[in-house]
Amino acid sequence: MNSIVILTGAGISVESGIASFRDAHGIWSKFDWRDYATPDAFARHPARVYDFYNARRRQLHEVKPNEAHYALARLEREFSGSVTIITQNVDDLHETAGTKNLIHMHGQLRSALCRSCGARSPWLGDMTIDSRCPSCESPGRLRPDIVWFGEMPYHMDKIYQALATADLFIAIGTSGAVYPAADFVEEASLNGAHTVMLNLEPSENASAFHETIHGKATDIVPEYVEKVLRG
Ligand code: APR
Repeated sequence: MNSIVILTGAGISVESGIASFRDAHGIWSKFDWRDYATPDAFARHPARVYDFYNARRRQLHEVKPNEAHYALARLEREFSGSVTIITQNVDDLHETAGTKNLIHMHGQLRSALCRSCGARSPWLGDMTIDSRCPSCESPGRLRPDIVWFGEMPYHMDKIYQALATADLFIAIGTSGAVYPAADFVEEASLNGAHTVMLNLEPSENASAFHETIHGKATDIVPEYVEKVLRG
């Protein structure tokens, strides 16, 4: 086995204290995604959208990676072949845990995108309509560097290249409710990969996986990594 591709979702960060989206008390049970996570919402109510992402960005100062994030960083360090992590998450817990080969397909909270010059800049504090682009200095043109519903996820070419050569595809903490991420298991399987779902409960696309293991990420991910490293 030479190549492992891993897709993570909000479930891997829940035990670090970051809410998921579709669980019982998930983010979308409190906020209507149509008012916060679409280009139209931002056009209609920019301040409300800025505040939503400012609150989630502020939380990053208070949370830490959990044993599941650290187990994946260990896998990348110790596995003899390649490990690619594709995350739908916009937190920075994978990189804080030490993961290097990481693709943020839905963007990142700690990044600002300028609608004038297109530059992406690190952004740790609050963002408002008065924030200036660090690159072109235009005021009022920054938006959260987040892929909203109806927008194309980032790095899709790189993602499909990884899926084309994966020997093992593991999905962790994702409900399989959002496309194209929910299709990655089929893509990997078509290319001959063994596919595994590590999740608290059956995902919507559970039947597409060769193997499913249910439990909390901090329990089942370190166990599975140990099993892979033992060969
Ligand atoms: N351990 C493992 N899995 C867990 C845990 C846990 N401790 N807690 C929750 N889960 C599982 C839930 O059972 C659920 O299947 O994680 C999954 C989280 O699903 P969602 O909340 O739908 O999150 P995700 O799949 O990442 O959403 C995909 O939707 O709203 C958009 O852009 C947003 O990236 C997000 C995308």
